[in-house]
Formats: sequence, structure tokens, C-alpha cells
Amino acid sequence: MKISEIANDLTTTRAAFIEEARDHGDLFIRQPYELYSEANQETWRKLYAALEPRWHKYANGRFIDGLDQLALDPQAIPTLEDVNRFLEPLSGFQCRAVSGYVPAYVFFDCLRRREFPTTITIRSGDTLEYLPEPDIFHDLAGHVPMHTQPVFADILVRFGEVARTAAKTARAIDDPQKRIKSLESVIRAMARFFWFTVEFGLMRRPEGGICVYGSGLLSSMGEIQHAVESPEVDRYPFQLEWVVHQHFEIDRFQPLLFVIDSFEHLFAQVAELEQWVLDGRLNNVSPGAPRINEDDLQSFLEAG
Ligand SMILES: [Fe+2]
Repeated sequence: MKISEIANDLTTTRAAFIEEARDHGDLFIRQPYELYSEANQETWRKLYAALEPRWHKYANGRFIDGLDQLALDPQAIPTLEDVNRFLEPLSGFQCRAVSGYVPAYVFFDCLRRREFPTTITIRSGDTLEYLPEPDIFHDLAGHVPMHTQPVFADILVRFGEVARTAAKTARAIDDPQKRIKSLESVIRAMARFFWFTVEFGLMRRPEGGICVYGSGLLSSMGEIQHAVESPEVDRYPFQLEWVVHQHFEIDRFQPLLFVIDSFEHLFAQVAELEQWVLDGRLNNVSPGAPRINEDDLQSFLEAG
């Protein structure tokens, strides 16, 4: 990154504070609230104002309950401390500030301990509409309202347990090449499952129609409506066989989404995913995105 692009605020991809933390190898960091610029605060206000009416139209009821319970400030970027004060008594979850990408096992294992790695930077005011990387709006306004709900919090914890089972299952494979090949496949399957549920999931409304629970949709001004209403999106009932083999691209509106019946249904699917890990049914999922990087693999190999 060029020095001229680095800023002394907390704008995603160019915050000096984050660059420095990464240079020091610090993954878990503090939220240096004083560094949010007026432009950063303005971005939060604009996003919140744009999304709030859309949430009431498209989001599932538990998200709306969570939003009320968290009492996020539409006018100012929240401190994680304030969020945690409301969040922890509700589901035991806590947000923990991170400097960037969290290797897959570390991420899932945080969920198992009811910790949510939270990005503290915010997208630039010129890219309000779309951002491939997470930011604090995606994490706090898109994910965390769902974490207030015990039924959803338990799903995330269950995911963490699946990761643990996957690491343990891989350790039992003697041949190092086979171990890596199957682990890469299992991580890919887990990433796809997470993507098509926690990030981009749709749910059937009990009264008919479809609503949104995936945080990628809940934090996107354009895609939330597109996901529910556009004829350019194919929506299918959630099928584990399909989801674990389905590649995805992160830099465009999703053309294919999966619909769960309820959060109890989703919980049961995560349990099924674990059974598939144990049965070796995820050892050869179809190749393609997402790419599993060295850090993701290492994190699983070093687990436990
Ligand atoms: Fe996310």
C-alpha cells in the first residue's frame, strides 16, 4: 500500500492503526474510538438510515427484536463495550475487536466460546453500496442483532463444535497428504455452508413469503431487496447436499440463495453437517471457490 493511501482514521483497507497492528502480528486489538473521523461517523449514519426501513420490510422478526434489544445508535458508531453490555446478558455472546482476517479454525473456535471477531473499520463513504470485505457496519448491524437471540447463538456455537470435530477427524488421518486434502475439502464445505446461511441466508415466513437472516444481505443497501424480490435470484429450499458442493463469488449480488424453514431447522442442519464430517462425506466436495488459504489450513492443523 502506498503511504499516500494510508489514513489516520478507521476507514476499511487504509487505516494506519490496523496496518500497524498487522505488522505487529496482533489479531485481537482494542477499538481506538478516538480515531473514527467525522466522515467515518457520517458513513455509519447514512448506512443506518438507508437500511432501517429495509430491515423492517425484509428482515426476520428475531433480527428486529435483536435490534431493539441492542439499542444501537443510528447516529454514531457504537463502542463494542456498549454493545457487549447489552449483548452478553442475552446470549452470552461478546464482540472482540480484530485487525482483519481471522483464520478459519480460530474464527469458528471463537464462536464456540461465544466470542464474535468484530471488524472495527468502516467502509469508505464512496463505496456505501458495496464492499467485499467485512466492516463494522456489516458486523455490528448485520450480524450482532442475530446474536442476541439464544436460538441463533446456539447455531453459531454448534458451528464451532463442527470445526472442532473436523480438526479432530483430520488428526486421525495418518497420511499427511490425505489429511491435508480432506481437511481442505471439509473447510471448503464449512465455508460454503456458513456463506449460504449465516451470511446470505433466507428464511420462510410462517405467514407466507420469504425474509432475510443473512448478515451479508442485512448490511447491504441494494442486495437486501434484490435477494427477496428480484427475478434474477434463484431461491431453493436449503439442501445440504447442494450447499456443500456449491461454489460462490463474493464480489457480486448472489444469483442463488437457499431458504431455511426456521432456526430450529438450521440448527438441525448444522448437526447434520457434523455427522457428515464424521462419516467422511465432506472429504471430496467439488473444487472451486472459496479458495482455502495456508492460514486456514494451518489453523485447523494446529487446533486443540
Ligand atoms: Fe459476515
